[in-house]
Amino acid sequence: MGLQEAAPAKVNLYLHVTGRRADGYHLLDSLTAFPPIGDLVAAEPADGLTLAITGPFAAGLQAEPDNLVLRAARALAAHAGIAAHAALNLHKVLPVASGIGGGSADAAATLRLLCRLWRLDIPPAALAEIGIRLGADIPVCLRSVPTRMRGVGEILTLAPALPSAGLILVNPGVAVATPAVFRARIGAFSPEAILPASWPDAESLVGDLARLGNDLQAPAVSLCPEIAQTLAALAALPECQLARMSGSGATCFALFGSAATAIRAAAALPQNHWWRWAGSLNGTAEGVAAKPAAA
Ligand code: C5P
Repeated sequence: MGLQEAAPAKVNLYLHVTGRRADGYHLLDSLTAFPPIGDLVAAEPADGLTLAITGPFAAGLQAEPDNLVLRAARALAAHAGIAAHAALNLHKVLPVASGIGGGSADAAATLRLLCRLWRLDIPPAALAEIGIRLGADIPVCLRSVPTRMRGVGEILTLAPALPSAGLILVNPGVAVATPAVFRARIGAFSPEAILPASWPDAESLVGDLARLGNDLQAPAVSLCPEIAQTLAALAALPECQLARMSGSGATCFALFGSAATAIRAAAALPQNHWWRWAGSLNGTAEGVAAKPAAA
């Protein structure tokens, strides 16, 4: 019988680059949220290892010889000392190379899924170690709950409780290469954020986030001007409280008082090829609305 795991998008509500390691990787401080939109990974028992890709963004991945999902499956099998065996299906709903997890969320969902299919009892810390060797965002995506991420992605602590809030995600359809964005970053490193234990409402969350930022936004805009247009369109929406880029881009997000407000506001976005989604920030199914997912 088949099993499946959700691979929700990761949104960096703020992202500070706080330093750089000797190996070139950057030290980060980021608050990640996981809204209820994402890819889906499914697995059926099989003798060999195969991957089929479906969904609106399947085409962007078909050409890749070694998808992160397959690499995650092989890494897990190697750790367990078994042959990788499963018929995997990745249903690709999120735009590719877009700063909202995507490949990392898929790899993390694959690790969780194959632990179930292969009946492996691997402690979370060991699974995170397998994950981080494949990508810095995989440990946080293994959790898929609001998390504060530090180090290069391996130091994870529970995030302050997030209030109920509305979210719009928009991707302008341009893939941005993460290493190029890190290379284009100039200027001093940022300090770590000081956060409260919780935020009572969306306004207080936005008030704190407004004092923080995404240090990769300016370099990403310098490489991809469409990000500036996306941010401007989000900031101009009625009742938008904050517009910012996620991760290394190009997906941008906007925060609203409620999911219903976000869904209403999304109707005023330009009717163009941009991928967009509106709903709730923090994982409840309340008010979820899939808007035209033009690829
Ligand atoms: O680990 P991941 O594949 O997501 O990272 C892609 C690239 O982004 C890395 O090779 C590195 O150039 C850059 N990066 C970084 N510091 C991080 C995460 C990624 O410099 N914390």
